[in-house]
Amino acid sequence: MTIAVAGATGAVGQHVVQALPIRHASVVPIARSHGVDLFTVSGVEAALRGVSAVIDVSNVVTTKRNESVEFFTRATGNLLRACRLNGVERYILLSIVGIDDVPIGYYAGKRIQERLVTESGLTATVVRSTQFHEFAGQMLDRFSIGRVAVVLKLLSRPVAASAVADRLARIAVAPQPPARIEIALLPNGHFEMDQQTFKGWLESQPRRRRRRHPSRRTNRPSRPASTTAMTT
Ligand SMILES: NC(=O)c1ccc[n+]([C@@H]2O[C@H](COP(=O)([O-])OP(=O)(O)OC[C@H]3O[C@@H](n4cnc5c(N)ncnc54)[C@H](OP(=O)(O)O)[C@@H]3O)[C@@H](O)[C@H]2O)c1
Repeated sequence: MTIAVAGATGAVGQHVVQALPIRHASVVPIARSHGVDLFTVSGVEAALRGVSAVIDVSNVVTTKRNESVEFFTRATGNLLRACRLNGVERYILLSIVGIDDVPIGYYAGKRIQERLVTESGLTATVVRSTQFHEFAGQMLDRFSIGRVAVVLKLLSRPVAASAVADRLARIAVAPQPPARIEIALLPNGHFEMDQQTFKGWLESQPRRRRRRHPSRRTNRPSRPASTTAMTT
């Protein structure tokens, strides 16, 4: 079985790429760094030739509603179109727990992405996960200006990206995949992610990583809602 992983180099995608061969599946990695842009219709169609299933863990780094909606509509829309063209029947989408309840712009794109997938007519599974343990590092990478990081304060039930990846791989090869599941730890309580969480994560990192200045990366997003600032 050959499975395409859209977002193969991301926080969870890189674990999915490792988890699939353990389940005897071959991987077609999709990412711009692998030469496939999800916005390029012909490239996506070519990438899905000979594939049996798609695991969609692609992502855009933004807090803006219109950017999120545009990315997920186009990227997932192109993947679904290419699935129909190539006879790919199975689609596994990674989404987020709580997107119906939290009014942030990024989630608007995720809700539309879920709808596209569930209405696609394919054998679709929507996996909703809580934030990854790696989320603290992603926030610091993406929402830092020099030594000042803009961080969220939120309640979460975080899971390891590798555990989510393993579940996605299992669903992709399952004889009868479920239509919808949720993955979250601490089912009876929430963990408050705050400045201490982000500081703890930073202190656990090697010094070289701590000195990075991610704000110099291209495609830097605007500030997220409900934030506090901290110095790193
Ligand atoms: N992070 C979390 O805590 C969390 C929790 C629950 C659910 N999720 C969901 O899980 C999914 C993956 O999240 P993540 O944090 O692992 O993402 P991520 O680390 O931001 O990785 C995004 C991936 O998408 C690829 N990508 C972006 N634009 C692309 C394009 N135009 N064409 C092709 N590939 C493109 C990137 O590769 P290139 O840059 O090389 O193209 C990268 O492999 C998201 O949909 C997110 O909503 C995330």
